[in-house]
Amino acid sequence: MAGITPAQQLFDLTGEVALVTGASSGLGRRFAKVLAAHGAKVVAAARRTERLAELARQSPAIAPLALDVTDTAAIDARLAEAERAFGPLTLLVNNAGIASGRRMVDTTEQEWAAVQKTNVDAVFHLSKGFAQRLIARKAGGAIINIASLVAERVGVSSASYAVSKAAVLHLTKAQAIEWARHGIRVNAICPGFIHSEMTDDYLASPQGQEMIKRIPQRRVGDPSDLDGTLLLLASSRASGFMTGAGLAVDGGHALA
Ligand code: NAI
Repeated sequence: MAGITPAQQLFDLTGEVALVTGASSGLGRRFAKVLAAHGAKVVAAARRTERLAELARQSPAIAPLALDVTDTAAIDARLAEAERAFGPLTLLVNNAGIASGRRMVDTTEQEWAAVQKTNVDAVFHLSKGFAQRLIARKAGGAIINIASLVAERVGVSSASYAVSKAAVLHLTKAQAIEWARHGIRVNAICPGFIHSEMTDDYLASPQGQEMIKRIPQRRVGDPSDLDGTLLLLASSRASGFMTGAGLAVDGGHALA
């Protein structure tokens, strides 16, 4: 039996080089800061580069990268650029995402396509490029996909988003089973409602306030509520035997 590793070492990410997508706001920005605070070097990627520059000024362990995750033709070049910042990537956090709150009968073809392109296709292409690099180097690594509560349950007016997040959860399992032999672990976080630019207008609305009463913990999450789960899945010392999992962090919402 292995000795007992103190928690500080268990979650020490020194030597890891992470790419976090959608890092200009919300959960992605928090993920970048938390990984950097635990020893990782972090390439913070997004389209709003002025926000990334501000984030990078806060830590020498964070470098900005201009990235539109839907520009699939440029992904190889962007991954190569990411690796010029701190060396070969070992960790990918597929966080960038968009929501759509329209009823199905009002959802246009373009809206449906945009949600799938950002939330699903980009996760496929980025993960593929990342895994190809690791496999070529014969190096292990980890992918954390940000799914959602609605990956497993649906609500009214979120069909395109819910379907995209169900696909992210299934993609996580498909990637995990295919890449386990290469030492690449792939897991998903399924957050419930968390305060962010994506959710704050809805959460402040009368419907949002009613919804909060149906969450068993009677509260919305803060991005910091995901810190522990992120670190767990990022650290191969802490979760080396975990792959293909989807962890709910939702105040019990999935049970309600
Ligand atoms: P947010 O809107 O603050 O963050 C989403 C980020 O993705 C933004 O920085 C946005 O610019 C970026 N993004 C969107 N399209 C992009 C593209 N084409 N290329 C590059 N970046 C792009 O919202 P939040 O809440 O931080 O969302 C982060 C992730 O968490 C998303 O995948 C979302 O679906 C997921 N999520 C959020 C929940 C919440 O309650 N806030 C609950 C469950 C999942």
